[in-house]
Amino acid sequence: MSGADDAARRLDWISRPAGPLRGTLTVPGDKSISHRALMLAALAEGDSRISGFLEGEDTRATAAVLAQLGVSIEAPAPGERHVRGVGLHGLRGYGRPLDCGNAGTGMRLLTGLLAGQAFDTMLVGDESLSRRPMRRVTEPLAGMGARIDTREGLPPLHIHGGQRLQGIRYELPVASAQVKSALLLAGLYAEGATEVLEPHPTRDYTERMLSAFGWPVEFTPGRARLTGGHALRATDVQVPADFSSAAFFLVAASLVPGSELLLRAVGLNPRRTGLLQALRLMGADIEVIDERHSGGEPVADLRVRHAPLHGIELPAVLVPDMIDEFPALFVAASAAKGVTVIRGAAELRVKESDRIATMAAGLRTLGVAVEETPDGALITGGALGPGTVHGHGDHRVAMSFAVAGLVASGGVRIEDCRNVGTSFPGFLELANRCGFELSAL
Ligand code: S3P
Repeated sequence: MSGADDAARRLDWISRPAGPLRGTLTVPGDKSISHRALMLAALAEGDSRISGFLEGEDTRATAAVLAQLGVSIEAPAPGERHVRGVGLHGLRGYGRPLDCGNAGTGMRLLTGLLAGQAFDTMLVGDESLSRRPMRRVTEPLAGMGARIDTREGLPPLHIHGGQRLQGIRYELPVASAQVKSALLLAGLYAEGATEVLEPHPTRDYTERMLSAFGWPVEFTPGRARLTGGHALRATDVQVPADFSSAAFFLVAASLVPGSELLLRAVGLNPRRTGLLQALRLMGADIEVIDERHSGGEPVADLRVRHAPLHGIELPAVLVPDMIDEFPALFVAASAAKGVTVIRGAAELRVKESDRIATMAAGLRTLGVAVEETPDGALITGGALGPGTVHGHGDHRVAMSFAVAGLVASGGVRIEDCRNVGTSFPGFLELANRCGFELSAL
């Protein structure tokens, strides 16, 4: 563990007002893509190399689970993995619980992947993951013939092996890339076609990556379909920098006068960039430079300069495309002029924490007027004051309050930042390098 990781593990942070943020940064690799790359490489025939892999606790937990299922995964250098694929039917039962840590993506996707195996598995998670709803995955999987026991819809999950899966045509009640992906992964083992229809298109990494590994998939925004009975061929994966990690710096530089940051090679899949559009609607100055493709994904450098922000009524259509960026948006709205209205975002209540409640509570402590609604909030921007807020073990909440501290007179103490390493190892160090005044206690 590096010194920065070590510091990030400590429970509390203090973030103080700081001068202009300056510099060129590369944030860590995309979490969603890193999870999927490991899983598909594990099931492929042959060896795959993954570069730009996120060295976060979530993705490492997925790697550890796959290793326990018999897959050899080497880490020749930070951000690199060599995965020796075992083929679709090459995983071996482990006989003991498999720990997904804090990772909802890891657990939900693995549930789909494991539903069609010959052996039983038990998936467990940490305290936060043990409170997250799993019926959204287990019910449609049961419709495919899977047998999965839950603790009243929550983990641990006991996935029974030896079940014959049938394809399904499933209309998702809530837009969720995790549920879509779990069904598609189960569909690899199913007889016939598995088709998933979404109420709003979500990130399509599973579909894109299955295609890259040679499995035929039909997909258009909002619909994906595949049939069982093919094979995955090993391939190399280049993981772009995670837009969700870049988001904290986009908001931070927008808020602090005199700031200018260049964020390098950020993944700009259109299903991820809702915050970019929302910030621009609020008056942010963000330039997309040198758009290109890397590993089949659009990437670009992002230059962000300070600009005065104003409140907006967030277009509902953007919500699924920025589902992980609301904690950062709440902070931007708190420092913007006027009111920001967020609706249609009830999913935030079942993330690593109830993000509407945790953000509203913390921002109120800092003197911001926040009215919570069942599916969003009304935030009246203004001056932020000092205070102690709680991160509730939620990585994105902790990092968002670190951004708030930059513009809160007197600074912000953030309790319980221990999970930042799940998605953004080295955040503390990188933030300080570009001008934050952020320290771990
Ligand atoms: C993810 C999908 C989203 C997102 C999560 C990652 C994925 O979750 O919030 O951080 O990699 O598929 P939902 O599918 O629950 O919306």
